Amino acid sequence: MTGLLIRDLAEVATHHGGGAPLRGNALRELEVTERAYILVGDDGAIASVGSMRDLPPIGPDVAEIDGTSLSAIPGLVDCHTHPAFAGDRVHEFALRAGAATYEELLAAGGGILSTVRATRAAGAAGLAQALTRHVGWMLRAGTTTFEAKSGYGLDCETELMQLRAIRDAGGIPTWLGAHAVPPEHTDADAYVDFLVAEVLPEAAQLAVAADVFLERGAFDAKQARRYLVACRDAGLELRLHGDQFTESGAIPLAIELGARSVDHLEATGPDGVAALAASDVVGVLLPASALFLGRPMPPGQALVEAGAAVALATDFNPGSAFCESLPLVCSLAATQLRLAPEEALAACTVNAAHVLQRADRKGRLAPGYDADFVLVGAEDWRHLAYHLGAPVVHTVLRGGEVASGARA
Ligand code: NIG
Ligand code: FE
Repeated sequence: MTGLLIRDLAEVATHHGGGAPLRGNALRELEVTERAYILVGDDGAIASVGSMRDLPPIGPDVAEIDGTSLSAIPGLVDCHTHPAFAGDRVHEFALRAGAATYEELLAAGGGILSTVRATRAAGAAGLAQALTRHVGWMLRAGTTTFEAKSGYGLDCETELMQLRAIRDAGGIPTWLGAHAVPPEHTDADAYVDFLVAEVLPEAAQLAVAADVFLERGAFDAKQARRYLVACRDAGLELRLHGDQFTESGAIPLAIELGARSVDHLEATGPDGVAALAASDVVGVLLPASALFLGRPMPPGQALVEAGAAVALATDFNPGSAFCESLPLVCSLAATQLRLAPEEALAACTVNAAHVLQRADRKGRLAPGYDADFVLVGAEDWRHLAYHLGAPVVHTVLRGGEVASGARA
């Protein structure tokens, strides 16, 4: 490509500075430039961003997009998703609308385990096809960078198949071998032994991070520690699903092991909030999951006020959050978690990129950063969160190319 100019944007909104993660007041310090342009270089990175008044002379080969009536924000970064699954769980969704709970369905061999059966049966081609479909949904909702977890194979072959599929689909793979205990293993301890001995050596070559579901009915803190320590020793970053239903020791363990993040936190009380805020571990909030399961929301405002580094993610998966939309998650953050729109934006751009160790290239609109951005179909970028459930994403650009929406 020879460069691209987005001109006459109503506004460009981005967090400034180079630091990550953002905490406290810095979460709200958004730079908003009115009547602005973004210039992309021929390397797919941002060359400059500024006011139309300061637009440098542009060569004749540079393509242009008219940004009139649109606003621009950084491409959204989804740092917690489970899109590598086959089938769906619409049947269980209907049962939950009656009386069944998510935990009861899992205990009865449904839930995660029913998606494991479908994913094992799909084969590599079937899984790749399903993943491509899900990733397309995410892109259309404005997600330009995504992490994705395994955890629906729970055997060596299918876990590795998921990690390869995620890598091939352009995702950042997290190995979630310790998601549930599959039926062929008698107990969680024996399953952790199997994971560490049989799957970890190859999973560590494919994944960036490891994750565990530390929860009543899944893995306890002792099992989680054993799994995570082995993963850390194999060079993986650590993530935890913690405090989703019960406080079962995820925050202390995450801090002790220097985890990158602890995710969910719907059940986190004041001590957990204070401990997390005093640490380097990012609290990843997943309000779509709380909404979808009819559970209490995580203490978003308390975490921000205490000075914690927070990120927002969809948790896209077939059981607890069949939702790929970060704009909807931003609406929930504003209305349910009491985060300001600026705080929500930081949480699914800069801070989410930090969770994925990409904050040097992703999550900001600044020279040298990858030219990943979303054109919001409104003059005020805050419509992203304000216009509840609406198709607010007008155009998505990734690496300076239109990936979804209007053509240049
Ligand atoms: O983050 N809670 C554990 N894992 C996922 C749900 C996976 C599923 O239900 O398929 C979550 O909510
Ligand atoms: Fe999850």
